[in-house]
Amino acid sequence: MERIIIEGGSALSGTVDIGGAKNAVLPLMASGIMVTDGTLILENVPRVLDVMTMKELLQSLGLKIEYSDNMVKISNSELSGFTPPVDFVTAMRASVLVMGPLIGRFGRVSTQLPGGCAIGERPIDQHLEAFKAMGARVDIQSNSVEVRCNRLKGTEFRFRISTVTGTENALMAAVFAEGETVLHNCAKEPEVAELAGVLNKMGAKITGAGTDTIRVRGVSSLKGVKHRVMPDRIEAGTYIIAGVLSGERIIVRNVIPAHIDALLRKLKECGADFQIKHDSIEVSGRKGLTGTDVVTEVYPGFPTDLQAQFMALMCFAEGRSVIKESIFENRFHHVNELRKMGADISLSGNVAYINGGRRLNGTVVRASDLRASASLVIAGLGAKGTTEIEGLEHLDRGYEKMEDKLLRVGAKIKRVRI
Ligand code: EPU
Repeated sequence: MERIIIEGGSALSGTVDIGGAKNAVLPLMASGIMVTDGTLILENVPRVLDVMTMKELLQSLGLKIEYSDNMVKISNSELSGFTPPVDFVTAMRASVLVMGPLIGRFGRVSTQLPGGCAIGERPIDQHLEAFKAMGARVDIQSNSVEVRCNRLKGTEFRFRISTVTGTENALMAAVFAEGETVLHNCAKEPEVAELAGVLNKMGAKITGAGTDTIRVRGVSSLKGVKHRVMPDRIEAGTYIIAGVLSGERIIVRNVIPAHIDALLRKLKECGADFQIKHDSIEVSGRKGLTGTDVVTEVYPGFPTDLQAQFMALMCFAEGRSVIKESIFENRFHHVNELRKMGADISLSGNVAYINGGRRLNGTVVRASDLRASASLVIAGLGAKGTTEIEGLEHLDRGYEKMEDKLLRVGAKIKRVRI
C-alpha cells in the first residue's frame, strides 16, 4: 500500500504545467474504434490509470495501441471483440464510451451495466435511449445489456438530462448513421466539443458541439489524424486552488482560462489574488480569503469535479460557505475526512455548510474517489503537521505525478510504500 505524506504549511512558488485532459482523452481513444483508414495519433495524453485502463480495454477488443512519451497511437487492426471484459467496465465507468463507436461502426455491443459507483448511481439510460432512437435494439438482462442494429438511422433525440458521456456516445454512434441526427439538450462541456472537433478532422460532419443542439450528418469512413489533446481544466483548477491556499506565486501553465471561468469567478469573489494570462493563471495566494456559496452545475457552471477541492479551500476561508452538489447524489465522501482534520462541516442532503477559518491538523485520511483525493492533498498542504493520505489508486486515476508537480513548487510531499 502507498501513502502520500504531506508536511503542511509550506508556501508554494514556481510553475506547474498542466497535462492533457483525461476526460477528453478517454472518448478520443474510444473513437479509435471508428477509424476505417490509418492511425489516430493523440499527443499530450496524461499517464494516468484511467488512460491505461482504456488502452487495455481497447486492446482486449483487438485494437493495436502504442503508448509512449505521452503519445497514443491507435491503429485500425481487426476488431475481434464486441464485449468489453467485465473487469474493465467495473474498474472504470468511462468504459461505456466504447458503446457508441461499436454500435455505430459494427452494429453490436454487449456489456455489463456499469452500476453505481462511489459518487452516485450513474445510470446509462440516456445512452441507451439515444441508441434506440437511432434504430438499435436494446436488450437488458439483469445487469448486462446487448445492443444490436443494422445501420443506425439519423433521427431527432432529446436527452432527458444533460450527460457528458451520454452525449459523446450518441455523437459517436451517429457518425456512421444514415442521414442526419439531431441531438437536443446535449452536454456543452469542452470535452464534447474537443471530441467533435477531432471527429470532424477525421472526416465526420458534426456541427453545434459545445452548444445544446448537435447535428451529425452520417459518413461512411473516418481517417486517422494527429491531434494534441487540450489541457485538463480540472487538473488546472486543482492546482489553482492549491496555489490560492498556499501560494506565494504559482504560475499554472497550459490552461485555457475560459474553461475554468466559473472557478475563477468564485475565487475572485472570495478575495483570491490572481492574474489571467493568455494560457496561464498566476496566483498570488490568499490574503483575507472569505467564504462563499457554490452550486455545482453543468458547463459552463461550477464543475462538480472541482467541488471537493473547493470545499477544502473553503475550510481555510474566513466565515461560512455553502456548497450544493447538484450533479451527483453522493459526492461528499471527503467531508468525513476533512472533519477528521478538524474542519467544521455539516451536511444536509446535497448541501454542505462549512464554518471556515479554523486550523486543520494533519492526520491519516483515506481518499474515496478521484476528486476527493485531490481535496485531501489540498487540505494537507494547508494543515498544520503531517497528513497521510491513503487510497492513492483513486488519485492516480486522473492526476499525473501530482506529488512531483507539487514538490517542484516547494511542497513537502512524498509518496511512501508502507
Ligand atoms: N445520468 C443519468 N442517466 C444517464 C446518464 C447520466 O441519469 O444515462 C445522470 C448521472 O447519474 C449524473 C448526471 O446525469 O447524476 C450527470 O452525469 P454525466 O453522464 O454527465 O456524467 P458522466 O458522463 O458519467 C463525466 C465525467 C465525470 C464528471 C461528469 C460530470 C468522463 C469520463 N467523466 O461523467 O468525471 O464528473 O461527466 O461533469 O467524462 C472525474 O473526472 O472525476 C469524473 C467523475
